Amino acid sequence: MCGIIGFTGILDAKEVLTEGLKELEYRGYDSAGISFFGENKILTIKSEGKVACLCEKVKAADTEEATCGIGHTRWATHGGVSDTNSHPHTFGQVTLIHNGIIENYKELEEELAKKGKYPVSQTDSEIAAMVIDDYYVGNPVKALKSAIKKLQGAYAFCIMFADQPEVIYAIRNGSPLVATSTVEGSIIASDMVALIKYSKDYFVLPEHHIARLTKDEIIVTNMEHQVVTPPMLHVNWDVAAARKGGYEYFMLKEIHEQPEALRNTIAPRIVNGLPDFSEEGISDELLRNTKRIVITACGTAMHAGLVGRILIEKLTRIPVSVEIASEFRYANPILDENTLVITISQSGETADTLAALRLAKENGSMTLSIVNVKGSSIARESDFVLYTHAGPEIAVASTKAYTVQLSALYLFAFRFAFVKEKISQQKAQEYITLLEDTIDTVAYVLSYDTQIEAISQRLKSADDLFFIGRGLDYALSCEGSIKLKEITYIHSEAYAAGELKHGTISLITDNVPVIALATQADVYAKTISNVREVRSRGAKVILITNADVQVDASLCDHHIMLPPMEAEFTPFAAAVVLQYIAYYTAVARELNVDQPRNLAKSVTVE
Ligand code: F6R
Repeated sequence: MCGIIGFTGILDAKEVLTEGLKELEYRGYDSAGISFFGENKILTIKSEGKVACLCEKVKAADTEEATCGIGHTRWATHGGVSDTNSHPHTFGQVTLIHNGIIENYKELEEELAKKGKYPVSQTDSEIAAMVIDDYYVGNPVKALKSAIKKLQGAYAFCIMFADQPEVIYAIRNGSPLVATSTVEGSIIASDMVALIKYSKDYFVLPEHHIARLTKDEIIVTNMEHQVVTPPMLHVNWDVAAARKGGYEYFMLKEIHEQPEALRNTIAPRIVNGLPDFSEEGISDELLRNTKRIVITACGTAMHAGLVGRILIEKLTRIPVSVEIASEFRYANPILDENTLVITISQSGETADTLAALRLAKENGSMTLSIVNVKGSSIARESDFVLYTHAGPEIAVASTKAYTVQLSALYLFAFRFAFVKEKISQQKAQEYITLLEDTIDTVAYVLSYDTQIEAISQRLKSADDLFFIGRGLDYALSCEGSIKLKEITYIHSEAYAAGELKHGTISLITDNVPVIALATQADVYAKTISNVREVRSRGAKVILITNADVQVDASLCDHHIMLPPMEAEFTPFAAAVVLQYIAYYTAVARELNVDQPRNLAKSVTVE
């Protein structure tokens, strides 16, 4: 939602904060601001627009050097985009930045009004600052403990108290905060990308614990005032991995990182040619007892689940359903101890997915999460975690996180089918070899960029567009469609190819391109008939097929042929093609690919 950072130490805090905010900008870019101790008081500079606008203001303000401060980059939820609604918010002695949503802020605002206290902004965050200040009589920990009893919702706060120079307090519930202390000072942020410059070692601030940051150390205490030492975690990527590395956009860089991300996710799990999850503690016993699987996630992660379902059901004949997490959590789902609930999430912080996970646990199901961010809430709360190793994904549109999620689901499906004695050891090993070969195929498909860039020139002026396919190709169509619409703003829909004629085909005209996926031999002829149906209504067709079919030139305007590969593995290659289509069409429309309007990378609110 929003990106937050706090620093206290021996470095130039304004520099540390603004540089950190640049790294965190993918989390929100409606406005940005910093507060710091300077000239014997807390000074605040904030600006509507991107971090670059804030940097100009900071430069122009030319304030004296500071060594302690907090910074925020905002994705607006409560209150429009304006300087006033930007963070940090100050009320009385309290200056605060917030990521999350305070759900009961209206009631709290009314209570405060009775005491003659009124906010200047329209934000829920300022109300939080007011509540903390209301309790503050010189003891920050006491004030925070009392305030959080009143605040309902999700939050990560970094707070400075006017009479506590060079100290930052932090507390969180639901929204992420990671921190580290080095010889240069103590630093805390929403995401490791802002910390990596200073350290590869960090800890996740436990929920409802208070961190007190000074230049020498970070002391974490629980609600009983006991000092707690959260476990240290380590990332194995570096600053370069979190930067663009010569690519015009992070999205393009991340598309190109897929072979490496896949290798990093697959290779450590192969033992004697078979998928092995003993490191993760996922026992064969657990798999043997699983009678049903529910996959729940949001957006692209949910689309990975759609592919996973087809593969797992095909190999094991065990029923799998895929549920949109925001629906699942309120659907009173039927769950039991023989159901394995798999949550999938890049960030590990998506509020709906986290709620779905908690519901599954309450209902006695075993939970397994496929997560990219180490130590994230979903990872910590799941019974078992299969980490994907995509490294940091910065572009809002998910690319490498999706393909590694697929790879984790494929590994799971092969092990599951083997343990359930639905496939032989030899077959499982063959599948693993094919999965490993897929990494090279993905690398090869990266060379399709020029072809797809040219096709995108013809898509760039479309207002509406359809993706169609059957089976795995329909699951891929869903992903292709979300990717295109989120970064190009072209209205697009994914349709099961055979369903189109039951109503929606009325929308097909010669102005509506259709991207048809026909990579699966068993339904190839059927999908091709659907292609003919849309073609005869004038649609421009971009047809994506496997290598082993002859495509009549009259069937489509553009034909993208995937390299030779087994049908089950085409989603990996097709995903790259669809990512390129979205990417190059957005570039052709001269849009900001990495930061599409109205979106945020990590959706930690409902
Ligand atoms: C689309 C996209 C989103 C996310 C969704 C879930 O490109 O990135 O649809 O997939 O918000 O996010 P995570 O995976 O972090 O739970």
